[in-house]
Amino acid sequence: GDRKTIELCGRKISEDDWTNITPRILDHIGRNIYLQKNHPLSILRQKIIDYFYSNYLGHRGTPVFSVYETLSPLVTTVQNFDSLLIEKDHPSRRKSDCYYIDRDHLLRAHMTAHQAELIKSGLDRFLMIGDVYRRDEIDATHYPVFHQVDAVRLFTGTELHGDRWGSNGKSLFGNGTRTHDCQECHDEMSVKLVEMDLKTCLMGLTRSLFGKGISHRWTETYFPFTHPSWELEIDFNGEWMEVLGCGVVEQSILKKAGASDRIGWAFGLGLERLAMLLFNIPDIRLFWSKDSGFLSQFKEGTITKYKPISQFPQCINDISFWLPNDKFSANDFYDLVRVIGGDIVEQVSLVDEFTHPKSGKKSHCYRIVYRHMEKTLTQEEVNAIHSKIEKNASETLGVIVR
Ligand code: PHE
Repeated sequence: GDRKTIELCGRKISEDDWTNITPRILDHIGRNIYLQKNHPLSILRQKIIDYFYSNYLGHRGTPVFSVYETLSPLVTTVQNFDSLLIEKDHPSRRKSDCYYIDRDHLLRAHMTAHQAELIKSGLDRFLMIGDVYRRDEIDATHYPVFHQVDAVRLFTGTELHGDRWGSNGKSLFGNGTRTHDCQECHDEMSVKLVEMDLKTCLMGLTRSLFGKGISHRWTETYFPFTHPSWELEIDFNGEWMEVLGCGVVEQSILKKAGASDRIGWAFGLGLERLAMLLFNIPDIRLFWSKDSGFLSQFKEGTITKYKPISQFPQCINDISFWLPNDKFSANDFYDLVRVIGGDIVEQVSLVDEFTHPKSGKKSHCYRIVYRHMEKTLTQEEVNAIHSKIEKNASETLGVIVR
């Protein structure tokens, strides 16, 4: 047939019934703001790399973590999900949560997508840094493109226990049953040492970024690819902020990647949220600004507080519509708003919903807050975009604007 093809990352892929990638998202691929000199995301990325380089030196003073930061964001469902033991019906695979090119390809939703392959290539300690893509709500801290740093560290028995165990036959492995804090195949003592190394590493990193006085707590959590798993939260102005996820790598991932003689940890953290705290950046859209009033404020190697250039006024418009009888996903509407409104949309929120008592039809009302980052919008400009959103929503989502 004459199915449309999409060109990205040097590949051509034919659209199918899973395709949901939008041109606006495609426009962000290759911008590489996290590699752009003097950009706050790049400054933070470099601080994290420096931490690993200076704290983990090999015997000749050379860094022992290798850094991968130009891996292609176009990945397969095998890389993003299967290789990480994410079940076929896991919610994170949903079309409403990811940007699919076709049934088998998507824009990576986390940097962990590259973990299994890099382990397979023989690496024991590495960082993976890059852009990740998720369909999500729209507000000051969410943007469909953001950046993550993931890391993996694997140990051999000797690396973990030194010579203490010598050749007395002890090993990293046992065979018991899976418990709350240990995989069935692991030796409990070894897992404890891996956990300590992981938490020491991450506390060191957190202190190097936020200072020695930072309060933190570990909470237990679940990831399909680690067990046990934790989240690190830090106290920021009296609020617990989740900053990263981590854990002991599932042994079956290591086994499949040819590293069955090792045990290891992994973590993944988002750069934007940390950068917003460290640089005092109030809105996530600012990271994409090409305005020199924003960019000229930052200098490689130093963390300085952002000074708002000026606050332009908001313009608020509501849209109400009847939902179609078949399924409707709010994320489809958010994407449509992004495609048409672009970065002048500051926030979209569901402000009212109700079901008509007689017809049983459902209605949603969304409030769209418009604000340009660099100028004042006129009511006419906003109205033109708002009507375009209304028109498009009724044409493509099957809703009936009220
Ligand atoms: N990939 C996870 C996320 O995006 C983070 C993570 C990485 C957790 C590695 C554990 C180990 O939330």
